[in-house]
Amino acid sequence: MVVCSCNRLTHVDVETAVAGGATHPREVYAARGCRAQCGNCVQGVVCLLREARKKHQLAHEAAARQAVASNAEIALSA
Ligand code: FES
Repeated sequence: MVVCSCNRLTHVDVETAVAGGATHPREVYAARGCRAQCGNCVQGVVCLLREARKKHQLAHEAAARQAVASNAEIALSA
C-alpha cells in the first residue's frame, strides 16, 4: 500500500525502516533517501510507524522468551 504518493513510500518501506532502527517519521523518509514534501502523509506514516514498532517489539520479546526457554531446556538436560 502506498502511504506517501509524493515519494512513492509504501507500508513495507515503513516496516523496513523500523526494522533498521527508525523511530521518527523523518527517519522513515530518510531510509528511502527522501523527505516529506506536501506533508499529507505524515499522520499516516506516524500511525504505521507506531504499529510497526509495536510489532517489532513484540517479535523481539517473543524471541527473547524463546531463547530463555531454550537455555532452560539445555540447563535441565545437562
Ligand atoms: S504524500 Fe507524502 S509528502 Fe506528499
